[in-house]
Amino acid sequence: MKILIVGGGGREHALAWKCASDDGAAALYCAPGNAGTAALATNVPLNADDVDGLARWAAEQRPDLTVVGPEAPLCAGLTDRLEAEGLRVFGPTAAAARLEGSKAFAKEIMQAAGTPTAAAQRFTDAGRARQYVRETGAPVVIKADGLAAGKGVIVCDTVEAAEDAVDRVLTERAFGAAGSCLLVEECLTGEEVSILALVDGEHVQLLASSQDHKRVFNNDEGPNTGGMGAYSPAPAAGEALWPVIREQVFDRTLAELKRRGIAYKGVLYAGLMLTADGPKVLEYNCRFGDPETQAILPRVAGGLVPALNACIDGTLDRTPLAWRDEACVCVVMASGGYPGRYRKGCVITGLNEADALEDVVVFHAGTRLQDGDTVTAGGRVLGVTALGAALEDAVRRAYYAISKITFDQAQYRTDIAAKAMPSARREGME
Ligand code: AMP
Ligand code: GLY
Repeated sequence: MKILIVGGGGREHALAWKCASDDGAAALYCAPGNAGTAALATNVPLNADDVDGLARWAAEQRPDLTVVGPEAPLCAGLTDRLEAEGLRVFGPTAAAARLEGSKAFAKEIMQAAGTPTAAAQRFTDAGRARQYVRETGAPVVIKADGLAAGKGVIVCDTVEAAEDAVDRVLTERAFGAAGSCLLVEECLTGEEVSILALVDGEHVQLLASSQDHKRVFNNDEGPNTGGMGAYSPAPAAGEALWPVIREQVFDRTLAELKRRGIAYKGVLYAGLMLTADGPKVLEYNCRFGDPETQAILPRVAGGLVPALNACIDGTLDRTPLAWRDEACVCVVMASGGYPGRYRKGCVITGLNEADALEDVVVFHAGTRLQDGDTVTAGGRVLGVTALGAALEDAVRRAYYAISKITFDQAQYRTDIAAKAMPSARREGME
């Protein structure tokens, strides 16, 4: 079997690793991949957002399955293009990917579906948006409508900050076309969890719960990042909540899309706030989370590829995933300075020693091969991932593995999963 994985981050290394362990004989391709995927797959020098180049490559090479990692090619219609070539693709069409590509569209669907979410109003006019902010007061959240690389959400503690945010989005166009409209949204409080589900157009299969750590520093301080670590399961999203999440979030939203003639196939990722009034959706993503995927896939006991194929064929109800009981933790090692400016090209040592540890996998993100060395090539460099009987064990193993790895100015959080530990809860460190 020939499989193309689109993307070059830790999520895509985890997908390639899982596909390789499912079928050792599969011919894997990763576009563009990284130094980690190069050990399992053939890296194809095409960027994930080069939809034309990827469509040409796939039309010639005819992969049996294409798995799309990031949102940009999905929103730009890569799935539609490849399906038009008669190819099999795991990932939603552009029409379905709008759940992530337009926050106003996602909100409209949720409101029509009765999916619990923060109250919000849509604006294209800065004056009207500012007036609304003054009427509703703070705290309040300003969200640019379109894809803004995770930077288009501004949580504002004061009315002044919210008015500034409105101006940045709508007047200064700080997020470009993504800011042609915005949402002014009610600020929710509670614990955040990520619930991802496989969807085949008809059936929904929830994946293990997880939680990521978006701020760069310990105790959730400092600026937002792409994610500094993740763990699974997330005890905050206990199984008692699952029927509620399945029905109110996934079933209602997918039914509303279907009413509009949109069949959703792929992963649907719900970012949820567990509020005092129950779970509410903060955002939808149309893809696997990064770094949640690195903490989820090692817990899948059997094959993943059959379930991905079942999403394409509409047979997900007959293809349940099996799960390991162990917990999994992924700690991201990033370049010093990230998410701001950082150096590239620093030599990474200790990778083999860390990888050789039992139940440890080092997923690469921003890495590349240079003269026989593995060097840093991005902000998030590695996702050091470990399984353990309980979260505590997985955490201990992940940090032990990290102690083997060095590169200049490496930075990582030392509190990944700490707030989920029973001991932390007892000590009131939540
Ligand atoms: P998003 O990209 O929509 O997930 O937003 C990024 C982050 O902003 C989320 O992980 C939350 O921490 C925060 N956020 C988004 N929407 C809200 C909201 N309505 N209330 C409070 N925080 C929010
Ligand atoms: N971990 C957040 C995301 O993938 O969007």
